[in-house]
Amino acid sequence: MINKNLPNIKNKKDRESEKMEKSAMSILNSLGFKSFDELKGKQILDIGSGRADLALAAKKRGVEIVCSDINNECFRKGVALGLDYRWFSGYNIHAEAESFDLVLSSGSIPMISWKRSQVIELLKEVKRVLKNGGEFRFGPGCLIASITDSNLSLEERNAYMRSTKEAKEKRRKISLEILQNYDPNITETLISSHTKYPTLYYTMKK
Ligand SMILES: C[S@@+](CC[C@H](N)C(=O)[O-])C[C@H]1O[C@@H](n2cnc3c(N)ncnc32)[C@H](O)[C@@H]1O
Repeated sequence: MINKNLPNIKNKKDRESEKMEKSAMSILNSLGFKSFDELKGKQILDIGSGRADLALAAKKRGVEIVCSDINNECFRKGVALGLDYRWFSGYNIHAEAESFDLVLSSGSIPMISWKRSQVIELLKEVKRVLKNGGEFRFGPGCLIASITDSNLSLEERNAYMRSTKEAKEKRRKISLEILQNYDPNITETLISSHTKYPTLYYTMKK
């Protein structure tokens, strides 16, 4: 007989696992990957991993991702979950030069860096730890610095925050200019412009 007073632990676990899988697939797709198979056999670093949904789902499929974050709680939880989770800022990656084939960053720096100089600082640091032939994929959307650290007046800044076609195009243009000012070969891949903010990711190769 089922005791209805006991919490259904299995279902709760299943629900959490489903949520994690859904979030991981969404992060993976937003960075332009269709499946975890594309990550197999690579040394991968994720910057600003947060809850590490991506790494947890990857681990289930035999893909190891080194996670990192400045948030100590995320770091501690990640380690407790058996992940290779490290506690450092993306501006100062605790790794030897040329350690990784692929560096990923979703919803973290450089997207959330407020200053162009910080965006460049991060790109330089990632290039240091990338192997020759390696790549950095980051997204989704435009750089915050495209608004916060530009020559725009306050009025113009507010206008560019809107979800109009013109505002989205302007932010895309300034974001790419900031990135290509550091490395002209950085590319932008648009996934959808019908979302509130453009959904896109950037690729920097070494
Ligand atoms: C919006 S969350 C994204 C988490 C995860 N990547 C995802 O897509 O679900 C942004 C994360 O970036 C981390 N973060 C912010 N600044 C950082 C920095 N300088 N270096 C590394 N991580 C940083 C935050 O602590 C947070 O966990």
